[in-house]
Amino acid sequence: MKAKKKAIVLGAGGFIGSHLVKRLKQEGLYVKGIDIKHPEFSESAADEFIIGDLRDIHTVQNNIDEAVDEVYQLAGDVGGAGYIFTGLNDANVMHNSAQINLNVAKVATEKKIQRLFFSSSACIYPAENQTNPETPNCEENSAYPANPDSEYGWEKLMSERLYLSYKRNFGLNVKIARFHNIYGPESTWKGGKEKAPAAICRKVAEAGSGQPVEIWGDGLQTRSFLYIDDCLDATIRLMRSDYTGPYNIGSEEMISMLDFTKLVLAISSKTNAIKTIHGPVGVRGRCSHNRLIENDLEWSPAYTLETGVSKLYQWIHQQVNNS
Ligand code: NAD
Ligand code: GDD
Repeated sequence: MKAKKKAIVLGAGGFIGSHLVKRLKQEGLYVKGIDIKHPEFSESAADEFIIGDLRDIHTVQNNIDEAVDEVYQLAGDVGGAGYIFTGLNDANVMHNSAQINLNVAKVATEKKIQRLFFSSSACIYPAENQTNPETPNCEENSAYPANPDSEYGWEKLMSERLYLSYKRNFGLNVKIARFHNIYGPESTWKGGKEKAPAAICRKVAEAGSGQPVEIWGDGLQTRSFLYIDDCLDATIRLMRSDYTGPYNIGSEEMISMLDFTKLVLAISSKTNAIKTIHGPVGVRGRCSHNRLIENDLEWSPAYTLETGVSKLYQWIHQQVNNS
């Protein structure tokens, strides 16, 4: 009998990692998850779950199996605007994530793993291409000359280059995606690392009648958001393709944060006012550009923003009621 294909998910206790483990298990793979913590909202579906710190090279060496079929590198010190744009976490974000990636690139090469996926970010794109909320440019080939607007973005860009160097010099079979704001149930929704979709759903769910929903900035800044199931489809498709990337994995449905908040209010059937307040905002406009991935991988998102956000709101509403 043919042995089961085996995958290792680094960051399996996180939002995308825990969903990916479920998906890979549904596909019939044997899955090992590694993280410094267990998933917060449901039991991991992994066959094995190792609690370990990937900044320690021994943890990486001891747990990445020789010639394993697939390794997904999602672990990192990451968060939304309230975490990466305040400047307060810059040293940790850079050190912790870079240390993990340095270890993973080296060990994945030594262990001759078959395929490695690295989750980079839309935050690598130059700040000057994202000053107009109507016309941001996030085409893959616009990344250089580089000027990300956060240390988080610089670390991701450095790590893209690190993995590509291992590919060039040692033949590492790496696949790189630049995720654009992924959202869905079981994402961080409070505590400081939450991103706008979950944060705004929480604020709307918590708002009593007559209380305004407060959002950061003037609300005219734009983003695009990709539903978790679409993210997993694209991730796995890229992983099993002959392409390397970097590819954007995101939605092209761009929306201002004010309109996003109105959408959540409509979904919740609430009529609260919206109040814009001072807060960390990041770039003025950002939206995925999908020509490359459409052409090479024949992938585009299936979920509309409204369908995905309805699912997120329902889950967050439950969390708020249960807390
Ligand atoms: P997440 O924070 O939910 O998951 C990251 C996981 O990494 C966490 O469970 C964390 O405990 C783990 N981790 C951190 N340091 C570790 C260490 N030293 N050893 C072991 N595990 C460690 O984040 P996510 O939203 O699931 O994102 C996954 C990846 O995708 C990250 O690398 C992130 O930068 C990237 N990404 C995500 C988005 C998004 O919108 N969610 C956008 C762009 C890029
Ligand atoms: N987090 C958050 N919370 N953001 C808010 C809020 C709030 O209550 N109110 C308004 N916003 C605004 C932020 O000011 C920002 O302008 C916009 O919503 C989006 O914020 P986030 O979702 O937190 O972050 P981001 O889109 O700037 O960056 C995220 O996406 C990248 C990939 O596209 C981060 O999660 C990065 O880690 C990720 O790589």
